[in-house]
Amino acid sequence: MKETVRAIATLYGQFSISANELDMIADHFAEAMENGLQGMPSRLKMLPSFIDRPTGRETGEFLVLDFGGTNLRLLSVLLEGNRKAQILRQKSWPLRDAQSGVDLTAGSVSGEELFDSIAAAIGDFAPSGEWRLGHTFSFPCRQYSANRAELIHWTKEIRTAGVEGRDITSLLTDALRNRSLTRIQPVAVINDTVGTYLAAAYAGERIVAGAICGTGHNMAYLEPDARGQQMVINMESGDFDPGMGTVFDAALNQDSEKPGAQLLEKQVSGRYLGELFRLVLTSLHHADILRFDANRISKPYSLSTEIMGELLADDTSSLLRVEQLCRELLAVDTALEERRAIKTAALLIVTRSARLAAAALLGVLRRLDPPMTGRHVIAVDGSLYEKMPGYRDTIESVLVRHLPRTVARTCLVKDGSGIGAAVAAAICS
Ligand code: BGC
Repeated sequence: MKETVRAIATLYGQFSISANELDMIADHFAEAMENGLQGMPSRLKMLPSFIDRPTGRETGEFLVLDFGGTNLRLLSVLLEGNRKAQILRQKSWPLRDAQSGVDLTAGSVSGEELFDSIAAAIGDFAPSGEWRLGHTFSFPCRQYSANRAELIHWTKEIRTAGVEGRDITSLLTDALRNRSLTRIQPVAVINDTVGTYLAAAYAGERIVAGAICGTGHNMAYLEPDARGQQMVINMESGDFDPGMGTVFDAALNQDSEKPGAQLLEKQVSGRYLGELFRLVLTSLHHADILRFDANRISKPYSLSTEIMGELLADDTSSLLRVEQLCRELLAVDTALEERRAIKTAALLIVTRSARLAAAALLGVLRRLDPPMTGRHVIAVDGSLYEKMPGYRDTIESVLVRHLPRTVARTCLVKDGSGIGAAVAAAICS
């Protein structure tokens, strides 16, 4: 009993972020934004999108391709021109399909093969007619215009070969041409954070930034003066270094596809939280604090972030769902004290994620409104923000506590990457 309490106290020390630390992270973030904009060395790439705030009057029906790393999604989206948008039809395919063994994110797959699969899916989804296509491609891209984006590097552990350094719109256009699909014309390529901003701004909210707290983590905001004009900037904030990491973060980073990169994302996003949780449980097992069949979770990434959500949602006094999950996943009957330890470990990892995401949001607000007197709304999309128990409340409570004179709130924007790509396509048409 004492050992368990001690082990949890140690985890608490490792994963908590004090109010002072959070303030410091926000200040460093604001500084990194400034440096990135000035072209000085910075962990924030501050990538221009060449797209300004929409008016809400953009109209038309657009085809949307949403490629974010988990699924391939196609949508047809109608912009009504009165700040309303409708998704008329959509279909999605997993990029990794355990049943068929197909994995379009593997290093053995080439960029041409990936984009050929995408073009085939587009041909099936839109079998006839001329279409303007908006493409949400949720990776760091050096953008040369609203329709030309070169992938700087993959994130979220994707390894598809021969795409880094290439122009994404050319890869897509060539693949469409090879399948005689020239009736489909890509007109805009954006990041999902830009899409989230555009979808919320189209709907009329006075939005200052768009964020994703999902499989990946990132933010975009409206910069009044980028290259002499107002435009949305994709910060690629997942690459920010929050400067504090545990031994678990170090191990995860070391074994990741890109050690040293995406340090904030590795502490915040859904792609990684389950793996951090697995590393923590394994260490508690090695320390004899938890007994279970360690082989059950010996494979990296074998615990998902969704499982953590299920554990946290268990409000029963004897943690019945946690008990059931422990039986299913760890093949063990647990004592209440062990279940409490497991749930607390999940809670510490998730709370740190939400507080770090909030620190980055604070950083943006400090840069945009130094006296901190305005009213600000940040649009957020992503499974963590939408579904993880307590996540949104933790972010909101940080904003309230750290911004005493400002009213800042977040709002959920569902389907930002789908509707936002249609808005971008309309702006660019
Ligand atoms: C990518 C970003 C993206 C974010 C959310 C990150 O891994 O680098 O471009 O916005 O994930 O999808």
